[in-house]
Amino acid sequence: MDKKIIEFWFPIKEVGLEGQKEKQVAVGRPPSIHNYFARRPTAAARAIILASILKIPEDDKDLSMIFKLIIDYGKRDAPNYVNVNGKKFKTEIIIQELLDKQKININKMKGFDLFSGGGTFPLEMRYLGLNSYSSDLNPVAILIEMATCNYPQNIKKSLIQEIESIFNRAQKYLEKNLKEYFSNSIKNGNQVKFYLWAFEVDCSECKLKIPLIKNSRLSKKYNWSLEPNIPNSDISNLIEFKISPVKNAVKYYTNGKIICPRCQKTLNNEYIMEWISKYPHSHRLLAIYEDLGKKSDKKNARGQFRIPNKNDFIKAQVDRNEIEEKLLNKYPSLNLKFPDKALHWSIQNFGIKSIFKCFTSRQLLVLKTLLDFIEIIKEEKKNFLNEEINRAIFIYLSFGIVKMADFNSVFTFLKSMTSPRLANSFSRSGLRMSGTFVEVNPINKSTSGSWMKYFDSLKRALINLIKHPIIDGSSIFINQMDAMELEYENNSMDFCFTDPPYYDNINYAQSMDFFYTWHKAALSDIFPDIFLFDSTPKENELIQEKFRHGGNKNAKSFYEKGMGKAFYEIFRVLKPEGLAVIIFAHKDTNAWETLLQAIIDSKLVITASWPLLMESASPLRSKNIASLDSVVILICRKQERKPMIYFDEKFRNFTEQSIVDKLESQWRLGFKGADFFLSAMGPALEVLSSYEAILDIKTDTFIELNEYLRFIDQILVNFSLKKALNQDTIQIDGETQLYLIWKLNYGIQKLKYDELWKFLKSLGLEEKNLIGKIIIRTKINSKIVYSCMEIDDKINDFKKDKYNPNTIIEKILFLAYLWGNESPKLSERVEIYLKSDGEKIWEVAQSICNMIPDSNENRLISGLLKKYSIQEVNSNNKEQRLKNSQKKFFVKNGKIEWKL
Ligand SMILES: C[S@@+](CC[C@H](N)C(=O)[O-])C[C@H]1O[C@@H](n2cnc3c(N)ncnc32)[C@H](O)[C@@H]1O
Ligand SMILES: [Zn+2]
Repeated sequence: MDKKIIEFWFPIKEVGLEGQKEKQVAVGRPPSIHNYFARRPTAAARAIILASILKIPEDDKDLSMIFKLIIDYGKRDAPNYVNVNGKKFKTEIIIQELLDKQKININKMKGFDLFSGGGTFPLEMRYLGLNSYSSDLNPVAILIEMATCNYPQNIKKSLIQEIESIFNRAQKYLEKNLKEYFSNSIKNGNQVKFYLWAFEVDCSECKLKIPLIKNSRLSKKYNWSLEPNIPNSDISNLIEFKISPVKNAVKYYTNGKIICPRCQKTLNNEYIMEWISKYPHSHRLLAIYEDLGKKSDKKNARGQFRIPNKNDFIKAQVDRNEIEEKLLNKYPSLNLKFPDKALHWSIQNFGIKSIFKCFTSRQLLVLKTLLDFIEIIKEEKKNFLNEEINRAIFIYLSFGIVKMADFNSVFTFLKSMTSPRLANSFSRSGLRMSGTFVEVNPINKSTSGSWMKYFDSLKRALINLIKHPIIDGSSIFINQMDAMELEYENNSMDFCFTDPPYYDNINYAQSMDFFYTWHKAALSDIFPDIFLFDSTPKENELIQEKFRHGGNKNAKSFYEKGMGKAFYEIFRVLKPEGLAVIIFAHKDTNAWETLLQAIIDSKLVITASWPLLMESASPLRSKNIASLDSVVILICRKQERKPMIYFDEKFRNFTEQSIVDKLESQWRLGFKGADFFLSAMGPALEVLSSYEAILDIKTDTFIELNEYLRFIDQILVNFSLKKALNQDTIQIDGETQLYLIWKLNYGIQKLKYDELWKFLKSLGLEEKNLIGKIIIRTKINSKIVYSCMEIDDKINDFKKDKYNPNTIIEKILFLAYLWGNESPKLSERVEIYLKSDGEKIWEVAQSICNMIPDSNENRLISGLLKKYSIQEVNSNNKEQRLKNSQKKFFVKNGKIEWKL
């Protein structure tokens, strides 16, 4: 079996950086075509696929050239030309030449993705000339894939011309039918950009109508906020607002409660939920943002807020019953009800249990007008509905409709007021009550969320998809299919590239129902197979949805068993010489064990793995809690496993060495904290999955995965300690070891229990004995987290006369504290500790200084070390690290070597 490049080398640093950049700018990229969750960067997918197709050549020069090609090809925007050995080549030509040289007949090969979502892998497979088999359970994913991986590449330029003309026609139709419902800017007569609304609740005591405003600040930059005027109860119950400087901002709706600004009565969450359930359309128009028609500079905004006038209120009054009735008569599918409870959805608590309740009446009118337009076009093209170009046109028109729905519901909110920027309803998985919401004017071409703004971004994405270099001769097959039961033959596929769903991260099907209903209205007669059901299929969806499976425990087990079946399907349909690449991206480390067990049980053998830092920093980072920003790419084969092996010293040493080698390079590439620990998982599994079984000779039992992973944790702990102390582990107590590992890997970050647990286990420590001594336990967002104690946290202990620490770390922190306070006790304590612990005290203190520069701790410990004239024990440590980071690799005899 030929080894592939990805089993030997992968440019994790370069691809990771490109992926991060790609995620930051969506303009011109596939995600801007249609909202979907958990999309992977195309740059990473592209590099992964190319590195999986190409074999390792015999000639070192060829190998170096391939490395460079993969790095270039893995750029955010796939380059049309690449430089190879000083010459410029068209990308597809140089790739085709390489394929020919390696005797790879790419058009005869098949690759599949069984969880294809937005279609990142199928798209890049197709560009590389593979026959791409794409499947997902979710019908909306299928539509997105057709629009991303099929039509642009098949129809090419004429697609854009056709779409441009039809979107322009739709714009004119919208203007004609909707103009009278939208206001003009007072200054220049331009159409307004958007409206700011709020849900409103009556005070149970004084009857004041209170809008659910979390913060009436509109823009800090331009110093705008809504300032209320609270009327006396005998005059009115309506709060009036004016636009004022930010200092007058108010917050009525915080932590799910309202405190009445007139009578101070607290209205709790239950009251608010009940009120909105009873009066679901109690929406209050608060302000209007109008276009001033000028370019914004640093000081002046492009537009301004104003308070609505009588005319604005009249225009907003649209007969809701009439629209709902007309829509339902024609499209009964729009009568969709949401389940009472759903993962990541909380709007049902407010009685918002159906699709129509997600929109104001004017928003519904916009969506209806667009559906009317589609009907007109369908009538025009009724004899040609099966032509590919027409099918494509209807899909993109329908995408335009759902874009309007996503940017124009009672969950669209103001993200930032600098431009200002609006956030779509599904900026995250699930729907939540924001209190205030934004209604976009869909006919104002310059407003994000408007019809023509969507067309602009669609056009840019399509142009990029069309001009992407492509190896001719590939085809794509897109099917709705359950990953647990693939409709492919045994041993039929050359490759699998996939990125599965992860536990309870995302509620795909439930969220996509919001879009599915509108798509069904627009498209079910053209694509009847995709719209067989009232909503997206949920029963077999592989997520951990507690409300669907009777609690979290059942849901977890359903998910894990299902993933086991899906992995087995990968094994079944892969050819014996085939290769599967599976991305793992779960944020919680403890969830990993079961999923990994499922891969091992499926009989796949992990032949290589690469950690990739490609997620933008997770939101938890802002709270300074250690969490994963990396994913792991596992390369799997169907090959035979090696016979059973004993868990003896030889095996342990060999495993440790092979893992430590990888850890060294990952450390050098900047993997730190949780990401660093995760980066050991791949190499560890490579060893484990390559054997039939591992037998512990002492107990005569097979080593289970969790036992094996504890052994790996121990390797990680030893590795970290060596790094911290810059020498082989000296004999120091467990608490001090924990402190060093923590500071080296996580700095001041807090740890969740499962992250901490593996260290405690490896160091033989117990949480209860450490609290208040070296760790602190706190709660953030009702989750327990731990932080590592610092000098400031221990001052109360230090002040006690009888304070008598027994671990090295506590002694060092205590000495540093005494030094900082110029305490007369210092010399006496130093003498005592040196007697009991010797030079270790200074060695550990020096290591801490090397690890945590610019901290208060460092300043105090450095001072202490200087006072006792301790030479820099690890003086070349920093220099060495710098040298390491400047090392470059080169290839010799088919192996990577590092040079300065
Ligand atoms: C992480 S996403 C894939 C994202 C994709 N890689 C991308 O870049 O857009 C996982 C996908 O698995 C799909 N899925 C969940 N259960 C499934 C099942 N039983 N069969 C097929 N697909 C399923 C979800 O609908 C979702 O689209
Ligand atoms: Zn009141």
